[in-house]
Amino acid sequence: MALLEVRDLSVHFDTTDGTVTAVDKISFDLEAGETLGVVGESGSGKSQTVFAIMGLLAQNGNATGSVKLAGDEILNIPTSKLNKIRAEKIAMIFQDPMTCLNPFLRVSDQMAEVLTHHKGISKSEAVRQSVELLDAVRIPEAKKRITMYPHEFSGGMRQRVMIAMSLLCKPDILIADEPTTALDVTVQAQIMQLLDDLKKDFGMSIILITHDLGVIAGSCRETLVMYGGQQMEYGTTRGLFEMPTHPYTMGLLKAVPRLDIETERLATIPGSPPNMMNMPKGCPFSPRCEFADERCSTTRPTLDGVVGRKVRRRACLKSLEELV
Ligand SMILES: Nc1ncnc2c1ncn2[C@@H]1O[C@H](COP(=O)(O)OP(=O)(O)OP(=O)(O)O)[C@@H](O)[C@H]1O
Ligand SMILES: [Mg+2]
Repeated sequence: MALLEVRDLSVHFDTTDGTVTAVDKISFDLEAGETLGVVGESGSGKSQTVFAIMGLLAQNGNATGSVKLAGDEILNIPTSKLNKIRAEKIAMIFQDPMTCLNPFLRVSDQMAEVLTHHKGISKSEAVRQSVELLDAVRIPEAKKRITMYPHEFSGGMRQRVMIAMSLLCKPDILIADEPTTALDVTVQAQIMQLLDDLKKDFGMSIILITHDLGVIAGSCRETLVMYGGQQMEYGTTRGLFEMPTHPYTMGLLKAVPRLDIETERLATIPGSPPNMMNMPKGCPFSPRCEFADERCSTTRPTLDGVVGRKVRRRACLKSLEELV
């Protein structure tokens, strides 16, 4: 049994124009101590997938399917139960730390409150443990810095504070939704290294959402590729990079700069993502796919096992063997 088992997870939003299917029957496993990468273009449903798991969907959204944490169902459970899980079992860090940090409170008060509330320990002990965590995320002079306000930290340091906050209750799973996109490249690399180290030190599993296949290659053993709310391919990162089988994955990989191949300009995938309110009947990628034929626009590909991973089988292929 995997630590987190997600099965047929779908997210629908009711809007005045109709129903938006933001996530369409996603399934994956997260093993203890592993990092799973989730990649896909903007609007492909990455954030809504993890928001559904965390019970954080907007008012007009609803989730169906199953999400099991250590065997227990956590999808759509009452908020009181979910609050406990959110603090103690699964934590989340966001792209912009200021969405989580209160600008009017000292970092010490914000961090200590989490511990006094969830662990029932004294304020002074809570501050002591908070300083330890700021040390762990390598904030220099943590004891002094903890009394500062969030705006007194640089962007990279604020992201570290948020990571430290998410670790306060020693979660089993950390969900990081594009944790480094707002940061410059050097700081990005430091934060990714930090997450890797913390994973080992704290024995956590991580779900890492990113646009950056370089980050995926460096940190994630398994990767889930999403397009139009659907999972296009899912398997070991190594397998995916060495032999992508879905044209969308191939397109994403072609768009990554490589030092060993000289190209005049980077490939981009022509066209734009599908309208989630009016998804193509067949493969959602077919209007942009260079291999597509008429069958692809009418037959929705099934998710099949191939070379140790799942891939949407293109209708234009006669057999799975053609894929490998
Ligand atoms: N409250 C809402 N009502 C209607 N549609 C929504 C709502 N929230 C999100 N969506 C739609 O859900 C789809 C998936 O959004 P999601 O935030 O998961 O994308 P993403 O893959 O995280 O993209 P990005 O990389 O830009 O963060 C988008 O088409 C978005 O417009
Ligand atoms: Mg997102």
